[in-house]
Amino acid sequence: MSAALKDVSALSEAEAGSEHARLVREISKHDKAYYQDDAPKISDAVYDSLRQRLEVIEARFPDLVTSSSPTQRVGTAPSGKFGEITHAVPMLSLGNAFKDEDVADFVERIRRFLGLNAEDRVELTAEPKIDGLSASLRYENGVLVSGATRGDGVTGEDVTANLLTLDDVPRRLPGSDWPEVLEVRGEVYMSHADFADLNTRQRDVGKPEYKNPRNAAAGSLRQIDPAKTKDRPLRFFAYAWGEVSAPLAPTQYESVQRLAGWGFVINQRTALCSSVDDLLAVYRGIEADRAQLGYDIDGVVYKANRLDWQERLGFDSRKPRWAVAHKFPAEQASTILEGIDIQVGRTGSLTPVARLKPVTVGGVVVSNATLHNEDEILRKDVRVGDRVIVQRAGDVIPQIVRVVDPDRVDRGPAFEFPHVCPICNSQAVREHDEKTGKLDVVRRCTGGLICAAQRVEGLKHFVARKGFDIEGLGAKQIEAFSEEGLVTAPADIFTLAKRNAAGAVRPPLQDREGWGETSVANLFSAIEGRRAIALARLINALGIRHVGENTAALMARTYGSWTAFRSACETLSEPAVREEMMGIDGIGGAAVEALEQYFSEPHNRDMLDHLIAQIDPRDAEQVASDSPVAGKTVVFTGTLERMTRDEAKARAQALGAKVAGSVSKNTDYLVAGPGAGSKARKAADLGVETLTEKAWFQLIGDQA
Ligand code: IVH
Repeated sequence: MSAALKDVSALSEAEAGSEHARLVREISKHDKAYYQDDAPKISDAVYDSLRQRLEVIEARFPDLVTSSSPTQRVGTAPSGKFGEITHAVPMLSLGNAFKDEDVADFVERIRRFLGLNAEDRVELTAEPKIDGLSASLRYENGVLVSGATRGDGVTGEDVTANLLTLDDVPRRLPGSDWPEVLEVRGEVYMSHADFADLNTRQRDVGKPEYKNPRNAAAGSLRQIDPAKTKDRPLRFFAYAWGEVSAPLAPTQYESVQRLAGWGFVINQRTALCSSVDDLLAVYRGIEADRAQLGYDIDGVVYKANRLDWQERLGFDSRKPRWAVAHKFPAEQASTILEGIDIQVGRTGSLTPVARLKPVTVGGVVVSNATLHNEDEILRKDVRVGDRVIVQRAGDVIPQIVRVVDPDRVDRGPAFEFPHVCPICNSQAVREHDEKTGKLDVVRRCTGGLICAAQRVEGLKHFVARKGFDIEGLGAKQIEAFSEEGLVTAPADIFTLAKRNAAGAVRPPLQDREGWGETSVANLFSAIEGRRAIALARLINALGIRHVGENTAALMARTYGSWTAFRSACETLSEPAVREEMMGIDGIGGAAVEALEQYFSEPHNRDMLDHLIAQIDPRDAEQVASDSPVAGKTVVFTGTLERMTRDEAKARAQALGAKVAGSVSKNTDYLVAGPGAGSKARKAADLGVETLTEKAWFQLIGDQA
């Protein structure tokens, strides 16, 4: 630590952010040296001083605390970000083909580029496109020396220790016919069965479930503690290579076969083709078997087989001309609609959910699908008892596409959407949009906090990651505590420990199934740690309609303190106050109306009085308007390497930028990490400047 460090009380939020990131990295590096390499590079005293400074910074800027901060883990292996590995040969992405014609065009382009005659045969390989995350394994003299994620294609994360826990990743190659330097590339993925098991375990311990096997694989590979990765059954298919000190073979197919000879798992569905018809036949075959493969795939990859041709074909805007990914359309299946339930959300929205006779759609059992709203039910005229087509595409919630036989004579009656809340019996209404005069598509319960469903959903939102983010207090625990009456309002969370100690909780939490002395102590200490809360988090946690993360951040920055914010919200009937709020760039009329309404409700004010008595909202830093991105609108997409998306957003907002969720002509910058998809295309179409993550950090003056 240099002596020139500023006192923490003098740090701006931006300075604190970059110092925090640096400390996390530095501490992690020393943790790795200490825990993993048994080779500490600094004395314990210096190490302690680094940690101490981190703790002081986090105490003053609680927003910087994330679950990956070294302060959040005790006695376990390193935390923080991974080291970086620059790929000897960049890891590229693939162009896409959607239709049969695109495949014919792809092959035709190869022919044209190489100047082939009509009679020349173009041989290609066809293999499943695994829906996981790619990794590169570097072997030197037959021994694994490093393993990295793709990252931005040029630089990836060093996840060597984690990759070593995979059964499919040999530590040492058998025999001796391998090149001295060999980088093996392929996909890390999780099977459907392992994914289901993992989510069961997550549920049991009150942790959020993963959305799909790809996210689960990525989350598991990027665990800080390799022991945790080992606990997650990941697999690896080898399908390519990076740097090699000697060629593997003259063709793609034979090269991959050699990888198999050294113990790598290669995909058995890989086929050699010599015409577009062949490729399409393989594609249809794999598509037909997709559900039986046991892992997610999202298409078929075609690669020119001759490596000398691959070389000549080269690359075009970071995509090989010699390969393409032929994507599958969304997966569909037909099943019976057994019922339509109405779910009540945090803001009282009534959402119809289709209960389906369980059906496997592309390897995943689907028993619920969204029906969106009452107009959608009318439009599709879905009725209980109908046979319907269900569709699943990537991350999205399964949807009902249509009724299979709408002309069937013995169909049930049309669905009648309830006009009262199924939970609290309050009126459920559709509001008129004042500006457009249109009827809101969503019907809402008017019960507010008297509605148990809204209360519970509100509490879940309150403790969620972007709110109070209390470890050990997830949706499952909130549901249980709330059902029992232990926690019915936010303030109750903060009095739980006292009530439990005083014997007012029967049986005491620590005596209950699924709990013990340690987990209860951990829960209470997590709750305790959240009494000091950043203002923006607090505002977001309240779950006021139209006041999401961005609006909450703007409010916090404008008003600075809880008292000032609340007082403004309670006096919105005064023109000057209203004008000031309406004048905040990025704040719309809907949010102002919602705040006025919320703070005019005596039961909300009451609830807030109780809550504020328990917590300590931290004032927000006012923004430096001289930052290079002040007032700019930024969109983040793809995977960020240096920090989580939430952290990046918070940093951008602290520098006065607005963070939007989608690209429009008003966007100033799109920060695109690997995996950026439609947003990157849209930005290119609209001429919006696209920055790499690195360029973004350079722009905001943070080169760390
Ligand atoms: S070949 C230069 N083969 O798809 C091309 N990629 O969209 C190297 N992927 O980043 C990639 N299965 O993560 C190749 N059989 C396969 C694949 C595959 C999945 C992924 C890989 C890549 C992405 C490109």
